[in-house]
Amino acid sequence: MTVGMGAVCTTLIAGVEAIRKGLAKPIGSLTQMGTIRLGKRTDANSPLMRDFLPLAKLDDLVFTGWDIFGGNLYDAAKTAQVLDNETLEKIRPYLESIEPMPAAFDQHYVKRLTGTRIKSGKNKRDLAEQLRKDIQAFKKKTDRQVVIWTGSTEIFLEPTAVHQSLAAFEKGMENNDPGIAPSQLYAWAALTEGIPFINGAPNLTVDIPAMNELSRKMNAPICGRDFKTGQTLIKSVLAPAFKARMLGVSGWFSTNILGNRDGEVLDDPASFKTKEESKLGLLQTILQPELYPDLYKSLYHKVRINYYPPRGDSKEGWDNIDIFGWLGYPMQLKVDFLCRDSILAAPLALDLCLFMDLAARTPSLRGLGIQEWLSFYFKAPDSAPGVYPEHDLFIQSMKMKNTLRHIMGEDLITHLGLDYYGG
Ligand SMILES: NC(=O)c1ccc[n+]([C@@H]2O[C@H](COP(=O)([O-])OP(=O)(O)OC[C@H]3O[C@@H](n4cnc5c(N)ncnc54)[C@H](O)[C@@H]3O)[C@@H](O)[C@H]2O)c1
Repeated sequence: MTVGMGAVCTTLIAGVEAIRKGLAKPIGSLTQMGTIRLGKRTDANSPLMRDFLPLAKLDDLVFTGWDIFGGNLYDAAKTAQVLDNETLEKIRPYLESIEPMPAAFDQHYVKRLTGTRIKSGKNKRDLAEQLRKDIQAFKKKTDRQVVIWTGSTEIFLEPTAVHQSLAAFEKGMENNDPGIAPSQLYAWAALTEGIPFINGAPNLTVDIPAMNELSRKMNAPICGRDFKTGQTLIKSVLAPAFKARMLGVSGWFSTNILGNRDGEVLDDPASFKTKEESKLGLLQTILQPELYPDLYKSLYHKVRINYYPPRGDSKEGWDNIDIFGWLGYPMQLKVDFLCRDSILAAPLALDLCLFMDLAARTPSLRGLGIQEWLSFYFKAPDSAPGVYPEHDLFIQSMKMKNTLRHIMGEDLITHLGLDYYGG
């Protein structure tokens, strides 16, 4: 169940259908193409993850969702302009068969959008109960469910008293507390129904004590926020490399131009602030200036996003990185990533749905609330209170693979490897 049926969502659903029909390959999806090594290197045993794990099969996936705009998914995919007409025509009947349900929406939280198909109710609790009914109806047609927010970025919100406990949150819904954004209503509805919730956007949704409490109570997993797709993915590769070699970083300027609806929403300062906060956290955590003041204490980190309509979904992300080496001699690195936003995001959304469904079926994981092992996918990973989040892509990848081995009762891999040398 996808909340928001725009560019990322239609690219996900159209992509899954194209793959099911044998028209394309699931490039970028770890669950579909990735392997996992089991045992020693000399065992030469690296099955495909989808053969090793009891994941839902693509053929068994059924999609539905909500949006503030009407029309079917074929029309939505045409509007998004990510996939070409040739691909869309081949799966047109399937896309035309899916229409979004009316949304829980309030323009206060996404200023640049004016919705046409919106639920009305006497208060936020009432809206959330309507969402629960939608989920209950879908439960009758399917065996298991996952809810994923592929909706627009909401305005920046700080956690307040209403987010501190489930009781306060439920009272806040009755009182229309302004701290409760629509995304939180969907999350509450999903978790209350015992269903995992994934947040692909940077807004404050499940990373609050109230949702953590609800998630643990209902055995309905939650995870981080904001898909780590383009520029931040590259950052989480480069920054650990600099740190691993003890190279200093004095400045990192990241700018983006994009022209899709996401870009339009982010053109509003309140939504941009949400994205900015989500993008800024990573360098501090990876580089640990408190441990390496000579290398990273004076790092100047700046992130800009500019709405530039001619580009559509084809984003360009430039990074200028000022680094320094032996005796403090300065060097520069320039990265210009000409990417496609939704092409990068869709396989992440798929993997997260399949992995969160697996987490919900795994007794040792489902009662934990936050699934930190899925940090691999997020710009802003979530972690237990008092534990710093892990941003380094390679640590995230190892952690995820070890968790998958743990789920299946396999030995964890430490990479020590002394036994290969008689140690
Ligand atoms: N594509 C990427 O690389 C990427 C990476 C990280 C995060 N994201 C985030 O994913 C989200 C989706 O991106 P997109 O490009 O698909 O945007 P989009 O504008 O094409 O789609 C978002 C959809 O959400 C709908 N929506 C907004 N509020 C809603 C609500 N309350 N209920 C139901 N529907 C609602 C909008 O009508 C729109 O159709 C954005 O928040 C974006 O920041 C995208």
